[in-house]
Amino acid sequence: MDKPTEQTRVIELQQLLNQYNYEYHVLDTPSVSDEEYDSLMRELTQLEAKFPELKTADSPTQRVGGDVLANFEKVEHRTPMLSLGNAFNDADLRDFDRRVRQVVGDDVAYVCEMKIDGLAVSLRYQQGLFIQGTTRGDGTVGEGITENLKTIRSIPLRLSDPFDIEVRGEAFMPKKSFEALNEAKLVNDEMPFANPRNAAAGSLRQLDPKLAAKRNLDIYVYSIADLGETGVVSHSEGLDLLDQLGFKTNPERRTYSSIDEVITFVEGWVDKRPNLSYDIDGIVIKVDSLEQQAQLGFTAKSPRWAIAYKFRAEEVETKLIDIELSVGRTGVVTPTAILEPVKVAGTTVQRASLHNEDLIREKDIRIGDYVVVKKAGDIIPEVVNVLVDRRTGEEQAFHMPTECPECGSELVRLEDEVALRCINPRCPAQIREGLIHFVSRTAMNIEGLGEKVIAQLFQEKLITNVADIYKLEKDQLIKLERMGEKSADNLVNAIEASKQNSLEKLLFGLGIRHVGAKAAKTLAQHFETIDNLKRVTAGDLVAINEIGEKMADSIVTYFSAPEVSELIEELRGQGVNLEYKGPKAVKIDDSDSYFAGKTIVLTGKLERLSRNDAKTEIEAQGGKVTGSVSKSTDLVIAGEAAGSKLAKAAELGIEVWDEDRLIEELKK
Ligand code: IVH
Repeated sequence: MDKPTEQTRVIELQQLLNQYNYEYHVLDTPSVSDEEYDSLMRELTQLEAKFPELKTADSPTQRVGGDVLANFEKVEHRTPMLSLGNAFNDADLRDFDRRVRQVVGDDVAYVCEMKIDGLAVSLRYQQGLFIQGTTRGDGTVGEGITENLKTIRSIPLRLSDPFDIEVRGEAFMPKKSFEALNEAKLVNDEMPFANPRNAAAGSLRQLDPKLAAKRNLDIYVYSIADLGETGVVSHSEGLDLLDQLGFKTNPERRTYSSIDEVITFVEGWVDKRPNLSYDIDGIVIKVDSLEQQAQLGFTAKSPRWAIAYKFRAEEVETKLIDIELSVGRTGVVTPTAILEPVKVAGTTVQRASLHNEDLIREKDIRIGDYVVVKKAGDIIPEVVNVLVDRRTGEEQAFHMPTECPECGSELVRLEDEVALRCINPRCPAQIREGLIHFVSRTAMNIEGLGEKVIAQLFQEKLITNVADIYKLEKDQLIKLERMGEKSADNLVNAIEASKQNSLEKLLFGLGIRHVGAKAAKTLAQHFETIDNLKRVTAGDLVAINEIGEKMADSIVTYFSAPEVSELIEELRGQGVNLEYKGPKAVKIDDSDSYFAGKTIVLTGKLERLSRNDAKTEIEAQGGKVTGSVSKSTDLVIAGEAAGSKLAKAAELGIEVWDEDRLIEELKK
């Protein structure tokens, strides 16, 4: 081929491959075989290498993942990304309908759509070219994830018309891709993702777009952020325009003019939902006319013209075969129900935490009982209640032991706590769990050193404390089960690389009581080196905004122990970095979270999360949890039987959420 012919061929291939890509990923009607597509792609890659000036921003070769980023830039949304109010039953939907009709009259049409359970993203196009993609973040500011979004093949890199437009949609991981990904993770002894939503979010927050490219994500686009000069007068016309421009919209949408029809549609999906190839967590109902939408307007957080109907968690029956006990890193002994395997909300469940003895008593759970199981928030398996009618008399009541199931020392119940604890610092279970925590992703992030590997190394007495991890040698690793030459090499490299982590990762990994990931970062930023931190007083610590008395005491006690000094010296000797390497600014990068900088009070009995977990999660996202409600409280989380604190919150006009809302916001 001569040069001009080759150049024409590049343009031809780009157009052809973009067309095939659209047919395959958006229309689901491929017109060429995978082999042919791959062969044309190879041809284009070679030609573009020869004529780099022809490698346009919308070339299909741009989807394989570009350079690794250092971080994601913050991007302010031109129009805020709001959330939706929820409906949980017919009555809520009828209320919504009534409110709508009061404002706009009786001539209303509603569009019902799948509520895709993924990650909201915004896509900007200039002159029809995809120029920027962002996450929702806190609704006002999100993160620029353009390169990762380009790897989603159903996102057009160029539109069929040269529009300046910003659209919103839900990126998600199809169920099949999720299962395959988790299987691969298990084989590699890595933590599987809890659900497709987390997997999608995790994939889009990879700094290396090549990793995101491997994750098989997809998208449904559901609205145009700024309709401007599009001439569109209804939401459904907007969706049709999105189709024409080359976007993938969800085909299951329907328009109705009565709430009865809407309710029938919604109820129909309760049973059909498992047949979809992707997860939905509800149905979104939107007023179709844009003029009526404008009349209805917005509350502070969500439009009055739309509502999300949330499906109730699926409940199934199974037998509780046994109750197992495990000792956690902090010595808390947790009972877990061992269940006859049963499929709930898409995955097989065999275990459910029973949290503590009080819960077992309250629900009167006995070994051998038939129980109802659900996944709270479609994630955490939970025993809802016992089917008392199915009892045969053979069931066995369960009693918590008085001694630690791992080390035999006496268990204690600390003040204020329902949990039983083993307080023996040499308890092997606590040490093992502490080691698992040390290498986990948020801590030292040593890839390849999963729970099973740690358990083996600990069993073989190759590691007894965290410093021993840095003494491991390849020869020792190769002898472990399922450890090949290559994985041993990778592991040695991962251990070596973790020595360079900034101080906060180590601090969090050490497992100092009450010090979560967020507090570890604050401490590292303030004190910069572990030696400085060793010298601080409780007074120095509480002077820092985010640190309360309990944490301060715990830090001082921790560093005053001689064995901790020894451990630090051992780590130093192994070449582990003991200094903060991040930006000096005190401002912490947590602006994505709703909880950042807020003061929150937990009151009443929480059902799905333990209080400690709720606190740790809130703190990890930058919030501060305090004990009493005052003017400086931003938010109160009220569980069952919340009393005077709830009354105080109402008196002071402080926002109150229930536990479900808390969990929903924590998951964002
Ligand atoms: S419309 C103004 N439509 O649900 C609100 N949202 O709490 C615009 N979602 O953050 C949202 N499927 O991530 C809309 N068909 C759909 C959706 C949908 C999923 C998500 C979206 C949003 C959340 C609402």
